[in-house]
Amino acid sequence: MKPNAIYQGDALELIHQVEDNSIDLIICDGPYGVTSNEWDKVANIQEYNLNLIKLFSRVLKPGGALYLFGKDDCLDFIDYRPYLALNRKIIWYQPSRLAQGRVNYTNNYDLIAYFTKGKAKTFNLDSIRVPQLVELEHRLRCENVPSVVNGQYGKTKFNADGKNPGDVWGDIKQLTYKSKELLSREVLNTIQKPEKLIERIVKASSTEGDRILDPFSGVGTTFAVCQKLKRDFIGFELNPDYVAIANERVQNIVSQQEFSLFQ
Ligand SMILES: C[S@@+](CC[C@H](N)C(=O)[O-])C[C@H]1O[C@@H](n2cnc3c(N)ncnc32)[C@H](O)[C@@H]1O
Repeated sequence: MKPNAIYQGDALELIHQVEDNSIDLIICDGPYGVTSNEWDKVANIQEYNLNLIKLFSRVLKPGGALYLFGKDDCLDFIDYRPYLALNRKIIWYQPSRLAQGRVNYTNNYDLIAYFTKGKAKTFNLDSIRVPQLVELEHRLRCENVPSVVNGQYGKTKFNADGKNPGDVWGDIKQLTYKSKELLSREVLNTIQKPEKLIERIVKASSTEGDRILDPFSGVGTTFAVCQKLKRDFIGFELNPDYVAIANERVQNIVSQQEFSLFQ
């Protein structure tokens, strides 16, 4: 399959055209099984995800990564271990979500399951560091506090370039009606993801020239980020209108890049 294109059609069929061991990173923001969109009406989201994991494990390179988006229960009671290793369940925390639950605690996060095919071949921590939140005085005090790593005492170290973002991502907000980045009201919430979120994933788990697959590419957020960060991209999308929006979005970025070359 040629890179830097979005193929209009069903991801579950198109994936068979992708070569074995050819993809460095898959960003899968597909059905969650929770909205009223036709494509989101999945009888059993866990079985659906297990099937995706099987299909993705064939096309990923050894050490390649999959980030699978879903709700908190999207992996419950399925055995994905024969196919991919689950390295971390990342909580994408949305503190601003209205807490309207009356009989249970309100769910205010999405799950992003980070898998790799065997041991991860890429994890660019230095390109995704976030600011240390501790104040300087406290920080200096802590420099002398021992920390335990593999049962050995060592000195607690703080990296001036920032820390590992950890597995609870509360620093990246879902788009709202007011977000400049939002392409249209129709794509709010269930569709368009913030570029910052996709950027963190792309930076962490790929390098320039790598090939990234987004099988549910929506309005092309992954494609836009790949264009900016010089990664190759393959997308699948059912909705032809979204394919057109995504292509236009990327074309605008290409034009800006060409323009800045001549400045
Ligand atoms: C949550 S949205 C993805 C949004 C995307 N991350 C973005 O920021 O634009 C899921 C997308 O998957 C598409 N979709 C759902 N089922 C599909 C399938 N079987 N094959 C291809 N696309 C599908 C929907 O049309 C929708 O645009």
